Amino acid sequence: MCGIIGYVGSRAVVQILLEGLGKLEYRGYDSAGLAVNSAGKIKVFKAEGKLQNLKQVMANYTLSDTTAGIGHIRWATHGAPNKINAHPHTCNCGKLALVHNGIVENYKELREELTAEGCVFKTETDTETVAHLIAQEYGRCQSLPKAVRAAAKRLKGAYALCVMHQDEPNLLVGTRKNAPLIVALGENENYLASDCPAIIEYTKRVIYLDDDEFAVLTPDSVLITDADGKQIFKKEEILPWEPVAINKMGYKHFMLKEIHEQPDVIRNALSGKLHDMNSPVILDEVKLTADEIRNLKRIEIIACGTSLHAAMIAKYAIEAFTNIPVDVECSSEYIYRKTVTDAKTLVIGISQSGETSDTITAIRQAKAVGSHVLIITNRPDSIMAREAHSLIPVNAGIEVSVAATKSFNAQLIALYLFALFIAETKKSFDEGYIAKLKHELLQLPPKVEMILSHKENIMKCAKTFASFRNFIYIARGINYATALEGALKLKEISYINATGYPAGELKHGPIAMLDETMPVLAVLMPGVVYDKVLSNAEEAKARNARLIALTSSEDAALENLFEYILKVPPVDEYLSPVIASVPLQLLAYYIAEFLGKDVDQPRNLAKSVTVE
Ligand code: G6P
Repeated sequence: MCGIIGYVGSRAVVQILLEGLGKLEYRGYDSAGLAVNSAGKIKVFKAEGKLQNLKQVMANYTLSDTTAGIGHIRWATHGAPNKINAHPHTCNCGKLALVHNGIVENYKELREELTAEGCVFKTETDTETVAHLIAQEYGRCQSLPKAVRAAAKRLKGAYALCVMHQDEPNLLVGTRKNAPLIVALGENENYLASDCPAIIEYTKRVIYLDDDEFAVLTPDSVLITDADGKQIFKKEEILPWEPVAINKMGYKHFMLKEIHEQPDVIRNALSGKLHDMNSPVILDEVKLTADEIRNLKRIEIIACGTSLHAAMIAKYAIEAFTNIPVDVECSSEYIYRKTVTDAKTLVIGISQSGETSDTITAIRQAKAVGSHVLIITNRPDSIMAREAHSLIPVNAGIEVSVAATKSFNAQLIALYLFALFIAETKKSFDEGYIAKLKHELLQLPPKVEMILSHKENIMKCAKTFASFRNFIYIARGINYATALEGALKLKEISYINATGYPAGELKHGPIAMLDETMPVLAVLMPGVVYDKVLSNAEEAKARNARLIALTSSEDAALENLFEYILKVPPVDEYLSPVIASVPLQLLAYYIAEFLGKDVDQPRNLAKSVTVE
C-alpha cells in the first residue's frame, strides 16, 4: 500500500521517478506526487487520482540541473485522497521533502507537540508530522542522516521513508520499519524503492533493508547504518529476474490476460515437483525431516483475502490426505488474540505479495513461539519469503490486476502438492487415490484451457445479471471457499454485494432475503455434497430466486431448475476448486466489464496491503 521511489544521480530524474511509480501503481492509485532537487531548490508536484494525472502535470515542466528526486503513489489512510494530502510532504520552510509508506500511529501526539512549537500543518496526513519532526532535528544537527535517525526514534507504527533536503542536494536518506524498502545500486546513481519492479530496468543489484536500518545514498556511495549511525555491512543481492515488459498482450485488461495465463501457471507450479502419477511428489522446499513430518501434530494456515480462500480449500485436502488437524485463520484476527501455536505446530503463511502486513506480523509471532514457518508466495524476494524456514514459490509471474486470479490457482497447486507430499511421507492416504489425484493434477491445464475457449455462456450470463445489486453464492465442502472467492471477485471489481454462504446455512437466516431480485449461484460439483447443494438450490428456487449452476454434471434435469448452467469439465472433487474458480473469475470479469468498471484498479483497493 503506497509505493515510494527515490533516485540520486545524473539521469533525467523525473522520467525515472514516473516510470518507477508506474511499476508501483499496484500499491495504490489515490494520488501521485514527486519532489526533485532542481537548480538548487526542492520542487514538489502532485496530482489527485492515477499516475496518468501526474504525468500530465509534469508534461508542462522542463526541469534543469536535477540531482535527486523522490516519488510516491498513494493508497489513502489518513486524510482524503486529494491533492493536498498527496505526498511528498514538506516542512514549513519547504527545504525538506519526504515520501512515506505506512502509518505513524502516534501522529496525533506528535502533531499537537509540533503545533505547540510553531509548526503549521497543511494536510490531514500522519506523514506530515514526520516532515516537521525531521526538519526540527535538522535545525539542530544540520545533517539529514542524523536528523532522520533522531526523528525515527520518536515514531511508532510502520514506515518506509525516503527523505531529501535542499541543502544536501546529492543525498537521499531511507529507512524502514514494518514496511518494505530496498536500496538498488547503479553506476554513479543509486535508488530506493518499495519493490523491485520499480528499478529492475536500471539495475539488478539490490540490498534489502531490514527494520530500523538507515540508508544514506549519494550517486557514488551507499552507507547503511543502525539507529545510532553505526555502519552495517549488508549483502548485495542480484535480482533473479529479467526486466519484463508488462503489457496486456492484446487483452482489454490485465485481469482477463491473467485469467487466460492459468493453464501455463498451473503447469509451472507443477513443474519439477510432479512428473507423473507413479512418481512421488518432490518438494525439497519443505525443510522438515521425514521424522518431523511424521510427528506434526497440527497445522495452522494464516492468510488474507484471496489467499485466505486458498487456505480454506487446502484445509479440506490436507486433513483428508494427512489426518493432521488444520486451522485456518485470517491474519488480522490471528495477531490480536492468545493463540495456542507452539513449536509442534507447522504454520503456513500464504501470500501473493509476501508483504501483507498482518500476515508478516502473524508469521513473526509464530516464529517467536518456535513454530516452523512455511511460506507459499508469488514473490520469493519478499519480506515473508526471506523470513521463512521453508519457502514454496508459486511462480505465477507478476500479477498486475488488483483482483487476484492466477496467483490463487498457483497457490492451490502448491497446497495440493504439499498435502500429497505429507501424505506420501506419512503413508496416511490410499496410494491408488494419490496416484489418481496426481494424474488429475497433470490434467488440469487442458481442462482450464477448455473453459477458457468456451466463454460465450458465461458472457451471456454476465449480461443477464449485470444489473442486479445483490448476489448469493452457495456451495458446501471443499467448494465453500470457492463460493467465497467467486463472491469476493464480484464484489471487488463490480461493487455488487455478493455473499458466499455454506449452502446448508441458507435456511438459518439468509433465505429470508431470497426473492426474484436475489440471484443464487450454486457451485454444484459432483461429490459427497452434490445432492445436498442441489436440495439447497431447490429451496432457493421455491423462494423465487433466479438460479445459476456451476457444474460438471451431465444431469439433464438441472435444466429445469437453473436459468444458466456454467459447464466445466469433470474433475476429482478435491481438485474441483481449481476448475470451478475459473468461470467464477470470468463471470465477475464480464459483469464488471459490462458495467464499465475499472477492472484492473478497482476503487479503494490495493494489491499489496502493507498497513494493518
Ligand atoms: C489485498 C488484495 C487481494 C489479496 C489480499 C492478500 O486485499 O487486493 O487481492 O488477496 O490483499 O494479499 P496477499 O498478497 O497477502 O495474498
